[in-house]
Amino acid sequence: MITSLVTLLFIALLRSNAGPLPSSHFACEGMVVSAHPLASEVGLQVLQSGGNAFDAGISVEFALAVVFPIAGNIGGGGFALLHTAEGEIQSLNYREQAPAGISAQLYVDDSGQPLGKKSTEGPLAAGIPGTVAGMYALHQQYGQLPWSSLVQPAIELARKGWVLTFKEVEQIKKYQADLQRLNPEDCYLCATKSFRAGDTLYNEALAATLERIRDHGAAGFYRGPTAEQLVAFMQAKGGIMTASDLENYQAIWRAPLQGQYKGYDVYSMGPPSSGGVLLLQMLGMLETQPLSSWGMGSTQYLHHTSEVARRAYADRALYLGDPDFVEVPLNALLDESYLKRRASSIQAKKATPSSRISGGLPALPESDETTHYIVADGKGNIITATTSLNGAYGSKSIATGLGFLLNNTIDDFSLAPGLPNSYGLVGSTANAIAPGKRMLSSMTPTLVLKEGKPVLAIGSPGGSTIPTTVLQVFLNQLEFGLPAQWAVDFPRFHHQWLPDHIRYENGRLDKKNQRQLKQWGHTLQESAPYGRAETIRFHPDGTLEGGADRRGDDAVRSY
Ligand code: DON
Repeated sequence: MITSLVTLLFIALLRSNAGPLPSSHFACEGMVVSAHPLASEVGLQVLQSGGNAFDAGISVEFALAVVFPIAGNIGGGGFALLHTAEGEIQSLNYREQAPAGISAQLYVDDSGQPLGKKSTEGPLAAGIPGTVAGMYALHQQYGQLPWSSLVQPAIELARKGWVLTFKEVEQIKKYQADLQRLNPEDCYLCATKSFRAGDTLYNEALAATLERIRDHGAAGFYRGPTAEQLVAFMQAKGGIMTASDLENYQAIWRAPLQGQYKGYDVYSMGPPSSGGVLLLQMLGMLETQPLSSWGMGSTQYLHHTSEVARRAYADRALYLGDPDFVEVPLNALLDESYLKRRASSIQAKKATPSSRISGGLPALPESDETTHYIVADGKGNIITATTSLNGAYGSKSIATGLGFLLNNTIDDFSLAPGLPNSYGLVGSTANAIAPGKRMLSSMTPTLVLKEGKPVLAIGSPGGSTIPTTVLQVFLNQLEFGLPAQWAVDFPRFHHQWLPDHIRYENGRLDKKNQRQLKQWGHTLQESAPYGRAETIRFHPDGTLEGGADRRGDDAVRSY
């Protein structure tokens, strides 16, 4: 009864915003879910020509760098979680790194106020890109097809052109003035007449850069002509990245974080992403609550989940940073009894003001853009990866002659105590800027297994909202029983401690919920739809069920 009421509610909510109900995609041999149909198609072709999920993931990552320039990149970085056919689970950190010459004084004045837009726009905003090193490391470890064959499809897309979708044209128009201003002499995203859906875009400079990567692997990016041109660009435009910054960049393999939820094993990304810690903390605090009897449209569920998120994000702000630089109290943060204690201050029907919540450990013991893709082949290999330039089109700086956008991930550092970044996130010294350090992320590529068998892969963009989006896509499927497609489309809500409000998507939160949440002391903030979540559900009979977020042009391709 409750389930069917929930389903009816879901249908009403979904219909209110998005037209006819879509269904999930089903297949048995292989599946690719990404933010762009052309990238998903490239991945599918690699799978069908004998590549494994990791080969296809590499080809999708490079294709996104061409056809989805708002977030797809070779000038940014990301995180990937992998499951191999043999049951090995690994995480790959190809997050950007701060250049050796960095200091906070480049971005904030003595009183901690930002110096213009230095951390968000132009070459100073860019961390050392990690994407090419990450993909190359992935290929060396797990690739099956030749590297060159995985980069080649992206070269062809860049050279032969790709057709703009309606949503992409809207995005380009929104940011075109900034792109033009920051790239007066070389801007492939700036047209003299405005772009229209259906126009073909070309990027010959990027095709040439990708050819060097195809022919020389990571060295085609971090050394030789690409690196030389990038460093010359930095010098000409006031950046600080040097040849040795590029040469020294390494992607890092790490064991992922692991936790449990009601018999499921949940694997997610550890620091320097905060995503895994947040997800596991939130799941840990929710596990004992009667979520499914409350129902996914209930005010109790919205309230309790927001309270849990408030507490987890407060810990993020205080304790999390790059573990190569600071001691991150992971065990303490994920300890079952700590989470129980932390959740015990949650009151039914009463919001706790964020001013009364801080990091919860007893004492410090040791003191609009990103994109996600998932590929699964029929053999049990899975990659779930989030990759980013940080903001939309990153720093909006296109490396002259190289055809790619540079990230603005320096803004993910905590530039001064209490100073919020572009996502309103505040941090502590744990995430302070330092040469060679990786800035704290919220990316949350996640895999769920039961009794050693994959059940679910999830991920999303959305800056600070990523962990709560992944949490909801997880609960929508494993707690509330929604199909994959509905799980990603369902309206979302978000709390991140500061600012102290529940964010919800335009017109997609029931008026009754709104009234009750306000009565219980919450402040509500309406926002544009956010996140573009992807998921694959692995059914026991081997069927793959894919959901691609309809907030974007996201697409499943499978066979
Ligand atoms: O690493 C992070 O948390 C951010 N740089 C991610 C940015 C993002 O997801 C933007 N997407 N809308």
